[in-house]
Amino acid sequence: AETLGASAAENGRYFGAAIAPNFLGEEGYSSTLNAEFNSIVAENAMKWDATEPSPGQFTFTGGDQLVALAQEQNMEVRGHTLVWHAQQPAWVQGLTGQALHDAMTEHIAGVAGHYQGEITSWDVVNEAFEWDGSRRQSNLQTQLGDGWIEDAFRAADAADPDAKLCYNDYGTDGVNAKSDAIYDMVVDFQARGVPIDCVGFQTHLSSDSDLSSYQENLQRFGDLGVDVEITELDVGGSGSAQADVYRTVTEACLNVDRCTGITVWGITDKYSWRGEETPLLFDGNYQKKEAYEAVLDAL
Ligand code: XIL
Repeated sequence: AETLGASAAENGRYFGAAIAPNFLGEEGYSSTLNAEFNSIVAENAMKWDATEPSPGQFTFTGGDQLVALAQEQNMEVRGHTLVWHAQQPAWVQGLTGQALHDAMTEHIAGVAGHYQGEITSWDVVNEAFEWDGSRRQSNLQTQLGDGWIEDAFRAADAADPDAKLCYNDYGTDGVNAKSDAIYDMVVDFQARGVPIDCVGFQTHLSSDSDLSSYQENLQRFGDLGVDVEITELDVGGSGSAQADVYRTVTEACLNVDRCTGITVWGITDKYSWRGEETPLLFDGNYQKKEAYEAVLDAL
C-alpha cells in the first residue's frame, strides 16, 4: 500500500503518531495525519497536569478533540499516560501517604472512566524504572512503596475493563538491566493476577543506537503472552543512517507476532520535542524523508 497506515494494516498492525491538538488547524499537519496514520496518541493532552489541573476538577478538551478526530477518521487511540513522575500538576507533587494514593486512584478512575470504551491501550504507568533495574525514586515510589504500580493497574482495569493496560518505558531497546526488571515485573503480575496486557517500548533512538538485541527483547515479552507496542519512536540524525534504524525497528515489530503496532512521537521535525535532532519521518515542510521510505518499504 501507499501509506504507512494502510501498509501497516495489511500486516495486521497500526501505524500511529503523537498529536498536539493545537496544530490540527495547520493544513500540512492535518492532511499528513489523515493520509498516513491510522492510530493517534495525545503527545500531552491526556497527561495528569492537562486533565486534572486541580483536585477532582477534570478537563478533557484536548483529549476529546483527538478522540473525536480519530473516530471520524477510523483511527485507533492509544492512551498516554495515567501515572508518571513527570507532568504531574503542582497539587499532586506536595501530597504524601494515603492522600497521594487516593489522588492516584481517583485520577485513574476519572480519566480512564471518561474515555472508557474509546482507548485501545492505555499507558497506565510510565517510566518507573532506572537504568540499573531499580525503581525510580519518584514521589509515588518513596511515598507509596513498591505496590503503587499494581494498584494503578487494578484501578485502570476497574475504570476501563476492555482497554489493554500497558507498562511503558524508554531505554528498553534491548535485553538489559532495565528491560530485565520490567520483564520480571510482568512475570510477577501474571503470577499474582495483576492485570497487565502490554508493554510499551518508547524507542527514543539515535542513528548509532545498538539494536542488536532489540527484536529478541520484544520477542521475550511477546512469549510471556503480553502485546508489545513501539510507543514513541523517533531517531535523531538524517539520511541513510537514520533510515536504517527506522527500518530495523519496523522489521523487528513485523517479525514479532505480538507486536501490534508502531507510534512515532510526532509527525514533523519542526514540532519534535527533540529540538534540532530532526528525528521524525517528515521534514518541516511535510516532505517525506529517506526514513519514511525505509519504513514504508519495510512494512
Ligand atoms: C514529551 C512531549 O513530547 C513534550 O511536548 C513535553 O514537553 C514533555 O513530554 N517520554 C514520554 C512522553 O513518555 O510523554 C514525553 O513527551 C517524551 C518522553
